[in-house]
Amino acid sequence: MSDRRYSRADLKGELPDAHFIDGARCKAVSRETFPTIDPSTEETLASVARGRDGDIDLAVRAADHAQRGEWRNMTPAERGRLMFKLADALEADAERFALLETLDVGKPVKESLGDVRGVCATLRYNAGAADKMEGSTIPLGPSFIDFTMLEPVGVTAHIVPWNYPLGMVARSVAPALAAGCTAVVKPAEQSPLTALAFAELCHSCGFPPGVVNVVAGYGEEAGAALVAHPLVRGITFTGSVATGRKIYMNAAQGLKPAVLELGGKNPMIVLEDADLERAAFDAVDGAFGNSGQVCSSSSRFLLQRSIAEEFLGRLAANAKKLGVGPGLDNLDLGPLISQQQYDKVQTYLAAGRSSGARVRLGGGRPPSLERGYFVAPTIIDQVDAGNVLAREEVFGPVAVAQVFDSVAEATQLANGLGYGLVSGVYSQDISQALKLARDLEAGSVWINGWFIGGVQAPTGGVKDSGIGRERGLPGIRNYLSIKNVGIRL
Ligand code: NAI
Ligand code: MG
Repeated sequence: MSDRRYSRADLKGELPDAHFIDGARCKAVSRETFPTIDPSTEETLASVARGRDGDIDLAVRAADHAQRGEWRNMTPAERGRLMFKLADALEADAERFALLETLDVGKPVKESLGDVRGVCATLRYNAGAADKMEGSTIPLGPSFIDFTMLEPVGVTAHIVPWNYPLGMVARSVAPALAAGCTAVVKPAEQSPLTALAFAELCHSCGFPPGVVNVVAGYGEEAGAALVAHPLVRGITFTGSVATGRKIYMNAAQGLKPAVLELGGKNPMIVLEDADLERAAFDAVDGAFGNSGQVCSSSSRFLLQRSIAEEFLGRLAANAKKLGVGPGLDNLDLGPLISQQQYDKVQTYLAAGRSSGARVRLGGGRPPSLERGYFVAPTIIDQVDAGNVLAREEVFGPVAVAQVFDSVAEATQLANGLGYGLVSGVYSQDISQALKLARDLEAGSVWINGWFIGGVQAPTGGVKDSGIGRERGLPGIRNYLSIKNVGIRL
């Protein structure tokens, strides 16, 4: 592989460390800061403004002012034009954003560059849709005309995790802007840098002050204050089930709608007639991409008994080729995000070992990497259905395999957990695969491929995996409220 290595010096310009509120950088009201860490080196990268109620209040008021003023008075096409301009500006600045992301979360630069390209696509999709969100006319007979108007819900809150920091900002902010809403973003405390840079870029592209605001800080401080602020009219959250529950309860106090994307324990079901080469190829990225810190990762392999050994052999052979190292080295996998996440994954690995499951590959820190939160790609099989490794979201590079005999048993195993984000089926028998697509309890079903879809296809979960859908046109409808207008003739 001849991917370029980078160094810290390739990042031209400073690290953003201030909130971005009402079109300007600003320090925390309290003047406090918190550290964001480079997980490849465990060193502090920057001390960033630590937001609390006061900072959130400034940002939400700015967003409310913009919502009622300049932003509301622009035509949808003008909003779209600004968003296209933003996509072009981000594309031109892709390397800087990618390096900021890599330093802050450890992912290889090529992955960060891919994420930035994805953000450009997200901006353009939503930009193009800004003037195409139409209401309907309702037939009430000869004496009436009745129609619906779609209106922006108002100020929207975006609480974002650390696995795709910029991608998650764009995933919910772009449709909110297309709908005519304004936004206050609370990035994860582990990864605030690209969100802060993004708000500045919006401003330099001509977005009116207050349309996109970013307040950095901790969840219990800035995040909770944002959810509770009375001027916030919609909430979008991606992260853990436990935090999602808290946010939903707090949102209920203000009767605010919330879109919640809460992760999964996603089964990849491989039937005995599957194209095993394809399945084992997809499984590498599915299980280990972004070091497994992906809500839709293929974190559970359900393998029909007759092909289980062959599949696992192929998967292990592919996984052994993955290079693990610091994000700037631009290999295949970087570290986990934090000491906390590293410890969590180690705890799962220890539980797996003591339960009688077999570690086929990896299982700990790669020997050559002494610093940084690195875990080698790990494959664990002979896991029974009651094992925590088969039931809980590990959020690390850990592939867990279970064996089944009949399709009915596979369906039962797949549907047997509280999660329901993604299920995947590998089979050459399309009718069998479609039957499973119908029977699997999940927001998405992927057949003979993993990570299918992009900005156009709606994503989200059922059961504990969340509420609502993002991406596609449903993603924009989250930020529109329906007003019915009835006229007696
Ligand atoms: P988290 O869900 O606590 O954090 C996500 C975001 O929510 C962050 O911006 C955080 O500051 C904010 N937050 C936390 N508490 C809040 C509160 N009371 N009110 C408002 N905002 C709040 O996730 P955490 O602790 O970083 O990771 C724990 C686990 O969550 C991971 O191990 C993983 O299993 C899962 N996770 C899932 C993600 C997904 O994509 N579905 C993304 C990140 C984590
Ligand atoms: Mg960081």
